[in-house]
Amino acid sequence: MPLNLAKSRLTGWLRQIHRLNQHTDSGSGTKSMLQRPETNGVLSSLARLVTRGLRKAADVIERKVDGSAASSRHKRDAVLDEYSTGMPSAQNAVDALRGWNHALPDHVGATAGRGAFYNDARIHWALEKFGSVEGCKILELGPLEAGHTYLLERSGAAVIHSIEANKLSFLRCLVVKELLGLQNARFLLGDFTVWLENLQEPYDLIIASGVLYHMQDPLHLLELITKNSDAIYLWTHYASDAAMPMGDPRRQAFVGSVEIREWRGIKVRLYKRSYHGAWRSKSFCGGMHDLHCWMEKDDILAALHVLNFSDIHIAHDEPAHPNGPSFSIFARRGET
Ligand SMILES: C[S@@+](CC[C@H](N)C(=O)[O-])C[C@H]1O[C@@H](n2cnc3c(N)ncnc32)[C@H](O)[C@@H]1O
Repeated sequence: MPLNLAKSRLTGWLRQIHRLNQHTDSGSGTKSMLQRPETNGVLSSLARLVTRGLRKAADVIERKVDGSAASSRHKRDAVLDEYSTGMPSAQNAVDALRGWNHALPDHVGATAGRGAFYNDARIHWALEKFGSVEGCKILELGPLEAGHTYLLERSGAAVIHSIEANKLSFLRCLVVKELLGLQNARFLLGDFTVWLENLQEPYDLIIASGVLYHMQDPLHLLELITKNSDAIYLWTHYASDAAMPMGDPRRQAFVGSVEIREWRGIKVRLYKRSYHGAWRSKSFCGGMHDLHCWMEKDDILAALHVLNFSDIHIAHDEPAHPNGPSFSIFARRGET
């Protein structure tokens, strides 16, 4: 029974008992049943007991009714929190989502994250190495917040497929797509390795910036990107005992021993790492599995040679990068 109905029934019963307790019927001078000497004792104690019980029940119901009104008030307020009031703006769109890493170009007039990835020297370099992307079809792995996507579109790419697995990052990419009016970029939510494993047609260029070192199996990703394009750009962290000797705090994320894998006739060292809970942050931008592997710089280059990517250019080598040594590679398939 709904609480409000139960409350009104109880109030009705209390009123009736009260009436029975009245001394006289108005005007007639006759005594009420409960006031007659023959019924007075037992019945009036019974009536008192029932009255007390009913009052208690009414109090409990009263509290419940008040409580559920307060909680529906709370729920209503929570729903109303989802509304953006005032003048529609770019900032409202940014503020709708949390965890921003990338800044937006000034003309957008909104503050998001800090990194000016929309004008990243690494992507300018990759585009310079590739040559004109006019009319090209590009695959971008892990766009995060579409800073690089914007640069690729502005450079004239005809089609950009940007595959992002993190749901919140994907939504931030959609906000950026709207704010920057991106027309040629399509954002897809899911695992780029599965996309690459199922591709029917190659891309002119694959941009794999900031993703190799987040992979459980980085060699598999190298196989996939070299299979699906003749030109690739990678920016990645790498493991190095020389740049990061024992005791270097940047080694703290490494776990277990180094795996030495025999792969296509070469030996590759794989350094396992854990995020140690960093994924709790809304701005987390790592991979989808806690355990991931870093490779050494020479091993990455050797693997590319084995995969017949022999035209290799290197830049942005930063052994002292605060998150670990890192560098850029632009590579093309060699003549067969
Ligand atoms: C370190 S961020 C790199 C962002 C940007 N590309 C850059 O270079 O600054 C890695 C991005 O890849 C995404 N990512 C990682 N593993 C992925 C996977 N298997 N499939 C799709 N996206 C993935 C992460 O969610 C994150 O947005």
